[in-house]
Amino acid sequence: MSASDRVVVVLGGAGTVGSGIVKSLLERGFRVAVVSRDGARLEKLRSFVPAPARDRLHTLVGDVGSEEGAEATKGALLKSAGKKSVGKVTDVVSSLGFSWWQGGPPHTQTLQELHWVLETLLLSTFTSWKAFFPLVKENPSGSYTFITGGAGERLLMPGTGFLTLGAAGALAFCRVVREEYPDVPCKLNEVKIDMGVATPERLRPGYVSHLEVGEAVASLVEKGSVSHAVLCASSPADLKTLTLEGKI
Ligand SMILES: NC(=O)c1ccc[n+]([C@@H]2O[C@H](COP(=O)([O-])OP(=O)(O)OC[C@H]3O[C@@H](n4cnc5c(N)ncnc54)[C@H](OP(=O)(O)O)[C@@H]3O)[C@@H](O)[C@H]2O)c1
Repeated sequence: MSASDRVVVVLGGAGTVGSGIVKSLLERGFRVAVVSRDGARLEKLRSFVPAPARDRLHTLVGDVGSEEGAEATKGALLKSAGKKSVGKVTDVVSSLGFSWWQGGPPHTQTLQELHWVLETLLLSTFTSWKAFFPLVKENPSGSYTFITGGAGERLLMPGTGFLTLGAAGALAFCRVVREEYPDVPCKLNEVKIDMGVATPERLRPGYVSHLEVGEAVASLVEKGSVSHAVLCASSPADLKTLTLEGKI
Protein backbone atom coordinates (compact mmCIF):
# COMPACT_ATOMS: atom_id res chain seq x y z
CA MET A 1 0.00 0.00 0.00
CA SER A 2 1.54 3.33 -1.00
CA ALA A 3 1.78 6.23 1.44
CA SER A 4 -0.83 8.23 -0.50
CA ASP A 5 -3.38 5.47 0.14
CA ARG A 6 -2.76 5.60 3.88
CA VAL A 7 -4.53 7.93 6.30
CA VAL A 8 -2.76 8.49 9.60
CA VAL A 9 -4.66 10.01 12.54
CA VAL A 10 -2.16 11.82 14.77
CA LEU A 11 -3.73 12.39 18.20
CA GLY A 12 -1.89 15.34 19.72
CA GLY A 13 -0.56 16.18 16.26
CA ALA A 14 -0.63 19.92 16.95
CA GLY A 15 1.75 19.52 19.91
CA THR A 16 5.54 19.72 20.08
CA VAL A 17 6.24 16.05 19.37
CA GLY A 18 3.14 15.49 17.23
CA SER A 19 3.81 18.39 14.84
CA GLY A 20 7.22 16.95 13.91
CA ILE A 21 5.56 13.60 13.20
CA VAL A 22 2.80 15.22 11.11
CA LYS A 23 5.34 17.15 9.01
CA SER A 24 7.42 14.08 8.26
CA LEU A 25 4.39 11.92 7.43
CA LEU A 26 3.17 14.56 4.97
CA GLU A 27 6.63 14.78 3.40
CA ARG A 28 6.51 11.03 2.86
CA GLY A 29 3.21 11.33 1.01
CA PHE A 30 0.76 10.17 3.71
CA ARG A 31 -2.61 11.75 4.25
CA VAL A 32 -2.79 12.96 7.85
CA ALA A 33 -5.68 13.85 10.16
CA VAL A 34 -5.02 15.84 13.33
CA VAL A 35 -7.32 16.46 16.27
CA SER A 36 -6.85 19.27 18.78
CA ARG A 37 -9.09 21.00 21.29
CA ASP A 38 -7.75 24.31 20.06
CA GLY A 39 -8.51 25.62 16.55
CA ALA A 40 -5.69 28.18 16.78
CA ARG A 41 -3.14 25.38 17.31
CA LEU A 42 -4.47 23.62 14.23
CA GLU A 43 -4.07 26.82 12.19
CA LYS A 44 -0.49 27.13 13.44
CA LEU A 45 0.14 23.53 12.41
CA ARG A 46 -1.29 24.20 8.96
CA SER A 47 1.16 27.06 8.39
CA PHE A 48 4.05 24.95 9.76
CA VAL A 49 3.73 22.09 7.26
CA PRO A 50 5.03 22.43 3.69
CA ALA A 51 2.53 24.29 1.47
CA PRO A 52 2.32 21.60 -1.24
CA ALA A 53 1.31 19.02 1.39
CA ARG A 54 -1.48 21.09 2.97
CA ASP A 55 -4.23 19.52 0.90
CA ARG A 56 -3.30 16.16 2.48
CA LEU A 57 -3.65 17.57 6.03
CA HIS A 58 -7.11 17.27 7.55
CA THR A 59 -7.69 19.10 10.85
CA LEU A 60 -10.53 18.78 13.31
CA VAL A 61 -11.35 20.41 16.64
CA GLY A 62 -12.24 17.74 19.19
CA ASP A 63 -11.58 16.52 22.74
CA VAL A 64 -10.62 12.86 23.04
CA GLY A 65 -10.27 12.98 26.83
CA SER A 66 -13.54 11.18 27.57
CA GLU A 67 -15.20 8.11 26.04
CA GLU A 68 -18.04 10.26 24.66
CA GLY A 69 -15.65 12.94 23.38
CA ALA A 70 -13.39 10.40 21.69
CA GLU A 71 -16.34 8.65 20.02
CA ALA A 72 -17.83 11.97 18.89
CA THR A 73 -14.46 13.07 17.52
CA LYS A 74 -14.05 9.79 15.66
CA GLY A 75 -17.56 10.11 14.21
CA ALA A 76 -16.96 13.69 13.08
CA LEU A 77 -13.60 12.75 11.58
CA LEU A 78 -14.96 9.82 9.60
CA LYS A 79 -17.91 11.85 8.37
CA SER A 80 -15.88 14.86 7.32
CA ALA A 81 -13.12 12.60 6.02
CA GLY A 82 -15.69 10.94 3.74
CA LYS A 83 -16.88 14.30 2.48
CA LYS A 84 -13.35 15.38 1.63
CA SER A 85 -12.35 11.90 0.42
CA VAL A 86 -9.60 11.43 2.98
CA GLY A 87 -10.56 7.75 2.98
CA LYS A 88 -10.23 4.90 5.42
CA VAL A 89 -8.06 5.41 8.49
CA THR A 90 -5.12 2.99 8.28
CA ASP A 91 -2.80 4.19 11.03
CA VAL A 92 -2.94 6.01 14.37
CA VAL A 93 -0.16 7.76 16.26
CA SER A 94 -1.03 8.72 19.83
CA SER A 95 1.11 11.64 21.07
CA LEU A 96 -1.16 13.04 23.76
CA GLY A 97 -0.09 14.75 26.94
CA PHE A 98 1.95 17.84 27.69
CA SER A 99 5.59 18.83 27.30
CA TRP A 100 6.55 19.48 30.92
CA TRP A 101 5.17 19.62 34.44
CA GLN A 102 7.10 20.80 37.47
CA GLY A 103 4.47 21.73 40.01
CA GLY A 104 6.55 20.81 43.06
CA PRO A 105 7.01 17.92 45.49
CA PRO A 106 3.88 15.85 46.25
CA HIS A 107 3.16 17.35 49.71
CA THR A 108 2.67 20.77 48.08
CA GLN A 109 0.27 19.49 45.41
CA THR A 110 -3.47 19.01 45.30
CA LEU A 111 -5.53 16.02 44.29
CA GLN A 112 -7.03 18.19 41.56
CA GLU A 113 -3.55 18.68 40.11
CA LEU A 114 -2.95 14.93 40.11
CA HIS A 115 -6.31 14.36 38.40
CA TRP A 116 -5.33 16.81 35.67
CA VAL A 117 -1.97 15.12 35.10
CA LEU A 118 -3.54 11.66 34.94
CA GLU A 119 -6.33 12.88 32.67
CA THR A 120 -3.91 14.43 30.23
CA LEU A 121 -1.25 11.72 30.08
CA LEU A 122 -3.08 8.49 30.89
CA LEU A 123 -6.86 8.79 30.66
CA SER A 124 -6.93 10.49 27.24
CA THR A 125 -4.48 7.86 25.95
CA PHE A 126 -6.98 5.20 27.06
CA THR A 127 -10.20 6.88 25.87
CA SER A 128 -8.80 7.73 22.44
CA TRP A 129 -7.28 4.25 22.06
CA LYS A 130 -10.66 2.72 22.90
CA ALA A 131 -12.32 4.73 20.14
CA PHE A 132 -9.62 4.62 17.46
CA PHE A 133 -7.96 1.20 17.84
CA PRO A 134 -10.96 -0.65 16.29
CA LEU A 135 -10.40 1.35 13.08
CA VAL A 136 -6.96 -0.18 12.47
CA LYS A 137 -6.55 -3.30 14.56
CA GLU A 138 -7.66 -5.89 11.96
CA ASN A 139 -5.58 -4.33 9.19
CA PRO A 140 -2.24 -6.14 8.64
CA SER A 141 -0.92 -3.06 6.80
CA GLY A 142 -2.15 -0.74 9.54
CA SER A 143 -0.58 0.45 12.77
CA TYR A 144 -1.18 1.98 16.19
CA THR A 145 1.84 3.76 17.70
CA PHE A 146 2.06 5.25 21.19
CA ILE A 147 4.56 7.99 22.02
CA THR A 148 5.76 7.83 25.60
CA GLY A 149 8.62 9.30 27.62
CA GLY A 150 11.36 8.19 29.99
CA ALA A 151 9.86 10.44 32.68
CA GLY A 152 7.66 7.48 33.57
CA GLU A 153 10.67 5.59 34.87
CA ARG A 154 12.26 8.14 37.17
CA LEU A 155 12.01 11.57 38.72
CA LEU A 156 13.53 13.87 36.09
CA MET A 157 14.36 16.54 38.68
CA PRO A 158 12.92 17.88 41.94
CA GLY A 159 9.29 18.90 41.59
CA THR A 160 8.42 16.74 38.57
CA GLY A 161 6.86 13.88 40.54
CA PHE A 162 3.34 14.10 39.12
CA LEU A 163 4.82 14.02 35.61
CA THR A 164 6.41 10.70 36.59
CA LEU A 165 3.07 9.39 37.88
CA GLY A 166 1.20 10.29 34.67
CA ALA A 167 3.97 9.11 32.36
CA ALA A 168 4.33 5.85 34.32
CA GLY A 169 0.61 5.25 33.85
CA ALA A 170 0.99 5.69 30.10
CA LEU A 171 3.96 3.27 30.01
CA ALA A 172 1.93 0.70 31.92
CA PHE A 173 -1.08 1.17 29.67
CA CYS A 174 1.04 0.49 26.57
CA ARG A 175 2.38 -2.66 28.19
CA VAL A 176 -1.14 -3.83 29.01
CA VAL A 177 -2.27 -3.27 25.41
CA ARG A 178 0.73 -5.18 24.01
CA GLU A 179 0.16 -8.11 26.34
CA GLU A 180 -3.65 -8.22 26.10
CA TYR A 181 -3.62 -8.15 22.29
CA PRO A 182 -0.60 -10.26 21.27
CA ASP A 183 -2.11 -11.42 17.96
CA VAL A 184 -3.71 -8.32 16.44
CA PRO A 185 -2.82 -8.09 12.74
CA CYS A 186 -1.95 -4.37 12.87
CA LYS A 187 1.48 -3.20 13.99
CA LEU A 188 1.26 -2.14 17.62
CA ASN A 189 4.29 -0.23 18.90
CA GLU A 190 5.51 2.25 21.48
CA VAL A 191 8.24 4.81 20.87
CA LYS A 192 9.70 5.76 24.25
CA ILE A 193 11.69 8.97 24.00
CA ASP A 194 14.17 9.29 26.82
CA MET A 195 15.23 12.84 25.95
CA GLY A 196 13.65 16.26 25.90
CA VAL A 197 11.98 17.16 22.62
CA ALA A 198 11.69 20.74 21.36
CA THR A 199 11.28 22.79 18.21
CA PRO A 200 14.63 23.77 16.60
CA GLU A 201 14.53 27.33 17.99
CA ARG A 202 14.03 26.03 21.57
CA LEU A 203 16.72 23.32 21.58
CA ARG A 204 19.00 23.10 24.62
CA PRO A 205 21.36 20.45 26.02
CA GLY A 206 19.67 17.08 26.48
CA TYR A 207 16.99 17.93 23.91
CA VAL A 208 16.42 16.71 20.36
CA SER A 209 14.50 18.39 17.60
CA HIS A 210 10.89 17.36 17.04
CA LEU A 211 11.86 17.08 13.36
CA GLU A 212 14.32 14.25 14.15
CA VAL A 213 11.68 12.53 16.28
CA GLY A 214 9.16 13.05 13.49
CA GLU A 215 11.42 11.40 10.91
CA ALA A 216 11.98 8.41 13.18
CA VAL A 217 8.29 7.85 13.99
CA ALA A 218 7.19 8.38 10.38
CA SER A 219 9.75 5.82 9.23
CA LEU A 220 8.46 3.30 11.81
CA VAL A 221 4.92 3.80 10.51
CA GLU A 222 5.98 3.67 6.87
CA LYS A 223 8.18 0.57 7.09
CA GLY A 224 5.96 -1.41 9.47
CA SER A 225 8.77 -3.87 10.09
CA VAL A 226 8.14 -4.50 13.82
CA SER A 227 5.17 -5.02 16.10
CA HIS A 228 4.57 -5.24 19.85
CA ALA A 229 7.93 -3.52 20.29
CA VAL A 230 9.11 -0.75 22.60
CA LEU A 231 11.50 1.38 20.58
CA CYS A 232 13.61 3.22 23.14
CA ALA A 233 15.22 6.36 21.77
CA SER A 234 17.82 7.61 24.24
CA SER A 235 20.09 9.49 21.83
CA PRO A 236 20.05 11.20 18.43
CA ALA A 237 21.86 8.08 17.12
CA ASP A 238 18.87 5.92 18.15
CA LEU A 239 16.55 8.23 16.24
CA LYS A 240 18.81 7.98 13.15
CA THR A 241 18.74 4.19 13.37
CA LEU A 242 14.95 4.21 13.63
CA THR A 243 14.74 6.58 10.67
CA LEU A 244 17.01 4.42 8.49
CA GLU A 245 15.84 0.97 9.52
CA GLY A 246 12.33 1.42 10.92
CA LYS A 247 13.44 -0.30 14.13
CA ILE A 248 16.14 0.01 16.82
N1 LIG B 1 8.24 17.31 24.92
C1 LIG B 1 9.12 16.44 25.44
O1 LIG B 1 10.21 16.84 25.90
C2 LIG B 1 8.82 14.97 25.44
C3 LIG B 1 9.87 14.06 25.66
C4 LIG B 1 9.60 12.70 25.70
C5 LIG B 1 8.29 12.26 25.51
N2 LIG B 1 7.30 13.16 25.32
C6 LIG B 1 5.92 12.64 25.18
O2 LIG B 1 5.31 13.11 23.99
C7 LIG B 1 3.91 13.24 24.21
C8 LIG B 1 3.47 14.59 23.68
O3 LIG B 1 4.17 15.62 24.36
P1 LIG B 1 4.37 17.08 23.74
O4 LIG B 1 5.63 17.61 24.28
O5 LIG B 1 4.18 17.05 22.28
O6 LIG B 1 3.17 17.85 24.46
P2 LIG B 1 2.28 19.05 23.85
O7 LIG B 1 3.11 19.95 23.02
O8 LIG B 1 1.53 19.65 24.99
O9 LIG B 1 1.27 18.28 22.88
C9 LIG B 1 0.35 17.36 23.39
C10 LIG B 1 -0.88 17.42 22.55
O10 LIG B 1 -1.86 16.55 23.16
C11 LIG B 1 -3.09 17.09 22.89
N3 LIG B 1 -4.12 16.67 23.84
C12 LIG B 1 -3.99 16.44 25.17
N4 LIG B 1 -5.17 16.09 25.69
C13 LIG B 1 -6.06 16.08 24.66
C14 LIG B 1 -7.45 15.78 24.56
N5 LIG B 1 -8.16 15.45 25.62
N6 LIG B 1 -8.04 15.86 23.34
C15 LIG B 1 -7.33 16.22 22.24
N7 LIG B 1 -6.02 16.53 22.28
C16 LIG B 1 -5.40 16.45 23.47
C17 LIG B 1 -2.89 18.59 23.01
O11 LIG B 1 -3.83 19.16 22.15
P3 LIG B 1 -4.52 20.56 22.41
O12 LIG B 1 -4.08 21.29 21.19
O13 LIG B 1 -5.94 20.20 22.44
O14 LIG B 1 -4.00 21.12 23.69
C18 LIG B 1 -1.48 18.80 22.46
O15 LIG B 1 -1.50 19.22 21.10
C19 LIG B 1 3.66 13.06 25.71
O16 LIG B 1 3.15 11.76 25.95
C20 LIG B 1 5.04 13.17 26.31
O17 LIG B 1 5.17 12.35 27.46
C21 LIG B 1 7.52 14.49 25.27
